[in-house]
Amino acid sequence: GPPFPVFTRQEVACHHSDADRVWVTYGSDVFDVTDFLELHPGGKSKILLAAGGALEPFWALYAMHKQEHVLEILQSYKVGELSPEEPPQPSVGDPYAEDPPRHPALKINTLKPFNAEPPSEVIAENYLTPSPFFFKRNHLPVPLVDPAAYRLHVQDACGRTLSLSLRDLKRSFRKHDVVATVQCAGNRRAEMNALQSTNRLGWGIGAISTACWGGVLLRDVLVHAGYQPGDEGHVCFEGLDRDQSGTVYGASIPLKKAMNPEGDVLLAYEMNGEELPRDHGFPLRVVVPGTVGARSVKWLTRISVGPEESKSHWQRKDYKGFSPAVTWDTVDFSKAPSIQEMPVQSAITEPSPDASVTPGELTVKGYAWSGGGRNVIRVDVSLDGGKSWREAELTGEEQLPGRAWAWKLWQLKASVPTGTKQLNIVCKAVDSSYNEQPDTVGPIWNILGVLNNAWHRVRISVGE
Ligand code: HEM
Ligand code: MTE
Repeated sequence: GPPFPVFTRQEVACHHSDADRVWVTYGSDVFDVTDFLELHPGGKSKILLAAGGALEPFWALYAMHKQEHVLEILQSYKVGELSPEEPPQPSVGDPYAEDPPRHPALKINTLKPFNAEPPSEVIAENYLTPSPFFFKRNHLPVPLVDPAAYRLHVQDACGRTLSLSLRDLKRSFRKHDVVATVQCAGNRRAEMNALQSTNRLGWGIGAISTACWGGVLLRDVLVHAGYQPGDEGHVCFEGLDRDQSGTVYGASIPLKKAMNPEGDVLLAYEMNGEELPRDHGFPLRVVVPGTVGARSVKWLTRISVGPEESKSHWQRKDYKGFSPAVTWDTVDFSKAPSIQEMPVQSAITEPSPDASVTPGELTVKGYAWSGGGRNVIRVDVSLDGGKSWREAELTGEEQLPGRAWAWKLWQLKASVPTGTKQLNIVCKAVDSSYNEQPDTVGPIWNILGVLNNAWHRVRISVGE
């Protein structure tokens, strides 16, 4: 095509609002992203921070943009190039320099922020996921917290702010241990992306893990702060992770869940009997059992109670479910409730799709879980794509009715007859309310790529 027009940084700077069109630069290219503002998964306001200037300082923090699919979107809005006389954008320090070391076996979806899951074959090896293998879902750099200086701020029922040290928390409230599974709403998004891309993190089946969490009950802290069991409203949490614009990670849950004596919502300072690791929220995180992972706020700094849900982007503009009919042009975030309890889920962890299987004995393994404390009562497995089924054998802790917060692991021993060319392994779970999983992704696909709980399928060619 013809060469692109050339602009100075000053000319680009004139395009900094809807009315003047919104231009940004990346490297030596100039883009008009006005038509993308409403489509941006991170929200319009975020792009406007960079309007008229360079993306680099922002993408140093939100470095998951430096992936092929994002750069492709950007490229489609190119309108020009920077004049060669323009000095390059000074490089910024790495906001992720203080992130902790991680286990090399994790499958990394994005490095900065760090989003990673255990390899499939490792997932069902342990009922309690060893912390280094526990999936990690961060939206920002991991804050570095001095535990001695740390304070939890709690807005009490009279509007005052209580300031609690870790010692205060450990001394004043009884310690509880809760075995709970945490699952991200985006678990298994890759299967949705395969049908139609959502342009969002392509999680495999590993954005789910289980730990024994130790800490104090949120209920006890709220009662100490003057709240009563019958009170209405939402409990809002804020993390210590924040971006340049001061945006902090935040989320909320109904006060009813927090105050429910059988809700088991924890402020956890221990994971699997050890100090909470930095990636998982050191020194204190929320664990909301039975509820989507997004509400279990890490690096907790502030708790408040109010009539409304958290105003955070991640409460209002993300982690909601929509009809497959809804597009980015028609979506109305205020119309859908935020995801809280999760639906019934299961997946095959072994054999993995690239495993070499031969005729003879075969062990199929996986996990199954449901939200809201609903127990998994059965897992059905098929080796022929769903024509015939067998029941898998379940293992895992017996938890109280309505408080089954942790997954069940399952396995099925099958024999693969000689001459078999292909196995089409399928699993589906049933929970204590007799909820079952939908058989395909199509009818539940949505623009955010959340809540994929379709039957999980693994196709394997059988060797000699
Ligand atoms: C998410 C594109 C600018 C902040 C995303 C995603 C895409 C995208 C495709 C989804 C990525 C994924 O989940 O894998 C773009 C393009 C931009 C742009 C084409 C060009 C103007 C910005 C700027 C900021 C920003 C300047 C910050 C100041 C975010 C945030 C998310 C996001 C916060 C959500 C991440 C999360 O889920 O935590 N963007 N973006 N973006 N972007 Fe951008
Ligand atoms: N809390 C803070 N402060 N910042 C975050 O980015 N991510 C949330 C939640 N709590 C997040 C957070 C999401 S989306 C999930 S799924 C869980 O943490 C993941 O917890 P994990 O990293 O311990 O597995």
